[in-house]
Amino acid sequence: MRIILLGPPGAGKGTQAQRLANTLNVVHYATGNLLRTAIANKTPVGLSAQPYMDGGNLVPDQVVIDLLMESIVDFSGFVLDGFPRTVPQGEALSIALPKPVQKVILLDTPEEVIVERLSQRRTCSGCSAPYNLTTKPPKIQHTCDICGCSLVLRNDDKPETIKVRQQRYREDTEPLLNYYQRIISKIDGSKSMLEVEQAIMKAL
Ligand code: AP5
Repeated sequence: MRIILLGPPGAGKGTQAQRLANTLNVVHYATGNLLRTAIANKTPVGLSAQPYMDGGNLVPDQVVIDLLMESIVDFSGFVLDGFPRTVPQGEALSIALPKPVQKVILLDTPEEVIVERLSQRRTCSGCSAPYNLTTKPPKIQHTCDICGCSLVLRNDDKPETIKVRQQRYREDTEPLLNYYQRIISKIDGSKSMLEVEQAIMKAL
């Protein structure tokens, strides 16, 4: 299946994309993770993207479009998380795909739930897997269950940067809800991880 997960920062896109990719046996592409890897490797894309990300702003469309297109190995099945984030990105994706996106899932998660979740989030410095000190702690303290790298607080998870990211979502990303109106399903993202996953599977 070709699926897009949409939703505000901290809505649970990365968490659900990982679970869906395992269940459906498709690849999970997260542009945030691709960009963080580029930053860690100090590539030209990473160096140019870092100031945007640290400030909570969007990286320019063409940079992200090129990065994702270079990464996709199989256009027939995927879960996209964090892309598209603007209507021009959605249009670029439609042009690039041999077969259209089948479903867009909107994780509708209230702001107060997001603020609480992001304050408790820790992210793997190696594979970017998301953890939560309250709702999804790692098996070994400070250590990723998947790759064993250390867990860190993301640079853009400071309260003032979260506010900028939420504003960018409202202004730049919300227009995509209209763009995808024929294939979008809204899911209550405030429920437990398992309940959200079950609701997504039902919608699919
Ligand atoms: P990105 O990495 O995509 O960040 P985001 O969209 O802000 O989303 P997050 O990763 O913060 O949250 P999430 O929805 O994945 O939630 P998670 O599952 O972690 O982008 C970062 C930056 O990169 C952007 O600001 C921008 O600068 C740049 N960028 C990326 N893509 C771009 C693009 N296409 N164009 C331009 N710029 C781009 O969950 C959050 C927490 O809650 C975790 O702790 C998790 O364990 C917990 N949790 C999740 N679900 C539940 C649940 N149901 N119950 C309880 N806890 C839960």
